[in-house]
Amino acid sequence: MTADHPTIRVRGLTKAYGKLEVLRGVDFDVAPGSIFALLGSNGAGKTTVVRILATLLKADAGTAAVGGFDVATQPARVRESISLTGQFAAVDEILSGRENLVLVARLRHLRNPGAVADGLLDRFSLTDAGARRVSTYSGGMRRRLDIAMSLAGSPPVIFLDEPTAGLDPSARLEVWQTVRGFARQGTTVLLTTQYLDEAEQLADRIAILHQGRIVVNGTLGELKQLLPPARIEYVQKQPTLEEIFLATIAGGREQE
Ligand SMILES: Nc1ncnc2c1ncn2[C@@H]1O[C@H](COP(=O)(O)OP(=O)(O)OP(=O)(O)O)[C@@H](O)[C@H]1O
Ligand SMILES: [Mg+2]
Repeated sequence: MTADHPTIRVRGLTKAYGKLEVLRGVDFDVAPGSIFALLGSNGAGKTTVVRILATLLKADAGTAAVGGFDVATQPARVRESISLTGQFAAVDEILSGRENLVLVARLRHLRNPGAVADGLLDRFSLTDAGARRVSTYSGGMRRRLDIAMSLAGSPPVIFLDEPTAGLDPSARLEVWQTVRGFARQGTTVLLTTQYLDEAEQLADRIAILHQGRIVVNGTLGELKQLLPPARIEYVQKQPTLEEIFLATIAGGREQE
């Protein structure tokens, strides 16, 4: 697919819950193999957009297509090409991390589910915790497991709804690296986030959803040009709290 054939194409999407008009004509495209960040305040409708694209919710009007398939008329074809990591972790607490992964691999009819699970545990630094029940995991470990589960079978399109909400800075960096890794391999990623730095770090294009519409859509460079250039001041650069935090805990990941 080329730029003329976006992997995700959304036109005139509207959705109301009762009298609450959440989406009032949402339009955007996501190019193949790119990372697209959807920003918006709480309640702006980000999860609503993701749920419509993932065929979990029907729009009132407008069209949306994923991988060339219409979400309303070809939902089964859409589901075959996507994976969704929802805003709230969807892991089974009673199972171990590895069992969760094997389960998903089986559900997706993958060959050798055990090997798929072990590969994902390794990729997400969960090998040591793989045999433990998820109920003993930290929030960051659950989130990593949740994302790992959505990657089983390498779907061509991934939706990540606030993938790093509640994660500590080092876990966030790991998720970012993983997301960049998908895109490098040609996966198309749509993520929603509240964190502006996350969009800056990851996204090829950034769109802002506000009052039911996309009010801004562009590259980071394009978005920066919307505001007058900042006045240049010379200040001594102090380390940020994030840098201090990361330096202090460097190497501590195994102790979770
Ligand atoms: N099933 C529902 N019934 C009624 N109202 C709903 C329903 N789902 C969402 N809403 C409302 O629609 C609006 C948009 O919700 P949505 O979850 O899409 O926002 P969001 O941008 O994902 O917010 P957040 O940043 O808090 O996750 C909110 O006002 C929410 O309360
Ligand atoms: Mg949401």
